[in-house]
Amino acid sequence: MAKLKWGMIGGGEGSQIGPAHRLGALADGRFEFAAGALDHRADAGRDYAQRLGIAQDRAYGDWTEMLVGEKDRADRVDLVTVATPNATHFEITKSFLEAGFNVLCEKPMTMTVEEGEAIVGIAEKTGKICAVNYCYSAYPMVRQARAMVQSGELGKPRLVVTNFSHGHHGDATDADNPRVRWRYDPAMAGVSGQFADCGIHALHMASFICNDEVETLSADFASTISSRELEDDAMVNFRMSGGTVGRLWTSSVAIGRQHGFDIQVFGETGGLRWASEQPNQLIYTPVGGRTQIIEKGESGLSEDAQRLSRVSIAHPEGFPLAVANIYCDLADAIAGETRDGLPNASDGVRSMAAVHTAVASAKEGGVWMDARPSIFK
Ligand code: NAI
Repeated sequence: MAKLKWGMIGGGEGSQIGPAHRLGALADGRFEFAAGALDHRADAGRDYAQRLGIAQDRAYGDWTEMLVGEKDRADRVDLVTVATPNATHFEITKSFLEAGFNVLCEKPMTMTVEEGEAIVGIAEKTGKICAVNYCYSAYPMVRQARAMVQSGELGKPRLVVTNFSHGHHGDATDADNPRVRWRYDPAMAGVSGQFADCGIHALHMASFICNDEVETLSADFASTISSRELEDDAMVNFRMSGGTVGRLWTSSVAIGRQHGFDIQVFGETGGLRWASEQPNQLIYTPVGGRTQIIEKGESGLSEDAQRLSRVSIAHPEGFPLAVANIYCDLADAIAGETRDGLPNASDGVRSMAAVHTAVASAKEGGVWMDARPSIFK
């Protein structure tokens, strides 16, 4: 099978997420890295792209040049990844979708709910794929958790409790580091800092595993480093459409927590726990029964948990291969297969509605508010 052609915008040398996209896209031989506008500095982007093996004429200085350069090529890229800072996602994603490209956009998909709704509309109108990189949903044991909830093994989920809290922005003396600062600057990050950065991964995960959507929420935000305009810590209570009660804590100043993303689902007949720092294990307790550790690679796992794991039992797979699972599902979707669970623009706009609702709720002292985008009310 011929490889699909892949291009990336952002993700330049030294960026946080760029390497995970390159490893992920290229891991399974489904894509070749054909084009890129990798850096906000044109020369640095062109230079790095060529060092990564991209031909000179497809190592672009910026995304508009890439759009013009790729649009009329017979061998144009089949998929464009947008891995730039948040404020640029909407314009780039919109422009490439309208020009007939499939897009994988980093989260948060847009800055506003209206922009998110526009992206949903453009993806529908053009028939192009707009995926959003909620890559944690593609870990094999997260797919296993979703399958167990879907098959009724836990009964109806009563409670979902999730944290995404780390301490890597906890040093006030490093707050001006440009890689950190943009995340708390409304002009670059939007209306929310930590909740839009990490909290929405946790919120998406709650919806993904429970197969339900957030309907209402109440939020408390704090900027614990006072120079930050946007929050670096948030507590969000939510209710899902099916009645599940949700609790979410997200922080970037929780010094000592490295990548503290975990989720617990407590159903009528059992409970589950998954943590990103031990991603190969799912902890399951049936009501009145013993706690079990379900390992990636064991027999009897769900079809997706098996399909999305490449290395044998007890070997770590980890984050770049979870991203690779998003690319595998994208390659299948580009080939016309339906891939349940591939995060899309609807997930992106739901997150944006939750972010804006949380900001409004926090400003009003935690008032409960409808968190759905108008297109899903
Ligand atoms: P970063 O600041 O480390 O890197 C950003 C990169 O984009 C740099 O190489 C920069 O030169 C480039 N860039 C900036 N503006 C550009 C433009 N107009 N055109 C081309 N390149 C441009 O940022 P990081 O942490 O890599 O975040 C990028 C995006 O990825 C953000 O939206 C962030 O929310 C998301 N992200 C997602 C993660 C996930 O788990 N899905 C994890 C980390 C980040």
